[in-house]
Amino acid sequence: MDIEIRRPSTTDGHHVNQLVTSIPQLDDNSTYCNLLQCSHFADTSAIAVTDEEVLGFISGYAKPDQPDTLFVWQVAVSSAARGQGLASKLLKDILQRTRPTPFRYIETTITADNEASWALFRSIARTYDAPLNRSLMFDRAQHFNDEHDSELLARIGPLHKTQ
Ligand SMILES: CC(C)(COP(=O)(O)OP(=O)(O)OC[C@H]1O[C@@H](n2cnc3c(N)ncnc32)[C@H](O)[C@@H]1OP(=O)(O)O)[C@@H](O)C(=O)NCCC(=O)NCCS
Repeated sequence: MDIEIRRPSTTDGHHVNQLVTSIPQLDDNSTYCNLLQCSHFADTSAIAVTDEEVLGFISGYAKPDQPDTLFVWQVAVSSAARGQGLASKLLKDILQRTRPTPFRYIETTITADNEASWALFRSIARTYDAPLNRSLMFDRAQHFNDEHDSELLARIGPLHKTQ
């Protein structure tokens, strides 16, 4: 099975929404939101596709006040495609792209219990020989009205070039 990793385009938006919706750990978002990620934020997002389906997607953006920081919004890999390095490849694809201001830091938020996601970002920190710092970003009571677990900020960097 050939898997292509590339920037998303607007025609991917609907399929991305189906992937995100199929993953219980992820907050649902609208197709419109995914269409914007696949257009305005395509340079900082990546998709993994075969001829038949979307296997993975990372949405991200450069922080408005810190252009050297990639904020990873969501990481989604279909359950059948996990454990094969796909999420790591998607993230590295974004980081390897040429930009006016190269990314030196990665930020994302993760709930305390999401072991797979922590493992992914710990692995990325090792790959780029960078420390990973953890702090509270959105609090269960203060920001989520007790309806969603707290989101912890993982900040990785400064990144060092690989190879
Ligand atoms: C988190 C997720 C994106 C990882 O995708 P993946 O393609 O399986 O990840 P990779 O294969 O690239 O693995 C990256 C690293 O994490 C580790 N890892 C992945 N899943 C793991 C798990 N369930 N438990 C422990 N470690 C895990 C891998 O061993 C690898 O480490 P290594 O480089 O040291 O060998 C995927 O499990 C997923 O889509 N989960 C549901 C959605 C979600 O929680 N997204 C993140 C929050 S936005």
